Amino acid sequence: MPVVRFRGEEIDCDRGDVLRAVLREAGVSPHNGGADRLNCRGLGSCGTCAVAVDGAVGDRSRRERLRLAVPPHDPDDGLRLACQTRVLGDVTVEKYPGFWGQHTEESPVDAADSDEVCDATGGGSALTDDGDEDTGE
Ligand code: FES
Repeated sequence: MPVVRFRGEEIDCDRGDVLRAVLREAGVSPHNGGADRLNCRGLGSCGTCAVAVDGAVGDRSRRERLRLAVPPHDPDDGLRLACQTRVLGDVTVEKYPGFWGQHTEESPVDAADSDEVCDATGGGSALTDDGDEDTGE
């Protein structure tokens, strides 16, 4: 049974589970600050669930590659979309600062700071939980 390590938590899951669902079901979020509410709910379109993953996971889908090629993400930063990533073995996950978790040049966000690292700069939009578009303004 794979183990997902994130912010000091060790979460058991089944091989093939989607990383975002594993984290959320354990009560932790791959989103920063307001992005926890303003996101596409796992459709792979908003990009706010981007995380660094070290360990055995499935390959990137076309949808994931396309989203991570759009700013503020950079296809060369190595991030994965938690909602598009299947866990295949033990993994360690880190979340970087920024609304999209895009600031890989900074230190990863720990649990204590996870609600305070949401700067909604960088453009883009996301859907709220009720499906309305929110531009972050
Ligand atoms: S939740 Fe929107 S891309 Fe993953």
